[in-house]
Amino acid sequence: MILETIVTTQNLAGQPHIAPMGIHSDNEELVILPFRPSATLDNLTATQTAVINYCDDVRVFAGCLTGRRDWPLKPAEMIAGHVLASALAHSEVKVIRIEEDPVRPKFFCRPVCEANHAPFKGYNRAQYSVLEAAILVSRLNRLPIEQIDREIDYLRIGVEKTAGPREQEAWAWLIAHIEAFKKGVHA
Ligand SMILES: Cc1cc2nc3c(=O)[nH]c(=O)nc-3n(C[C@H](O)[C@H](O)[C@H](O)COP(=O)(O)O)c2cc1C
Repeated sequence: MILETIVTTQNLAGQPHIAPMGIHSDNEELVILPFRPSATLDNLTATQTAVINYCDDVRVFAGCLTGRRDWPLKPAEMIAGHVLASALAHSEVKVIRIEEDPVRPKFFCRPVCEANHAPFKGYNRAQYSVLEAAILVSRLNRLPIEQIDREIDYLRIGVEKTAGPREQEAWAWLIAHIEAFKKGVHA
């Protein structure tokens, strides 16, 4: 199963980095698959540790994809690292094995500390819409714009019917980013 999470890593100087990542969950192991090149990949290689944050504030996902990466953090408990302050739960992990790949290496990780911070309060369709739209934004250079428009039109239904203020804000950031991209491409 793939879980959409926020991965926090840090470089050797202790500078934190926040990025949405789809984590592959397989029994005890959690597998992080960062594309080359990425800061997450560099940090994982350097420190062999990460924090996987389970977060229902979709503004963090949309924010990271639209240049808003400055989300409140607090210190991790068992590793040198940072926990997203808005995470409902988190796992601090150590890399136990790396499967090299020219496009997307696999970092097999094992949790060394797990903690719950707030209750999960159920599913929300607008949160799904924001996650999917954030993925579309991450692929703006690779997908035809007609496909982006078509998928955004469908995803908007969940936002219009079920969003709260956080989802509306996140959605607005993503739509503004797509519109700016279109202007840049067609200018
Ligand atoms: C829901 C979601 C899941 C993502 N999963 C991955 C992933 O598994 N691997 C990856 O490299 N990028 C993934 N991305 C894109 C990265 O978050 C984004 O490109 C980011 O900038 C990674 O590069 P960085 O570590 O240099 O910040 C995902 C984006 C979203 C919105």
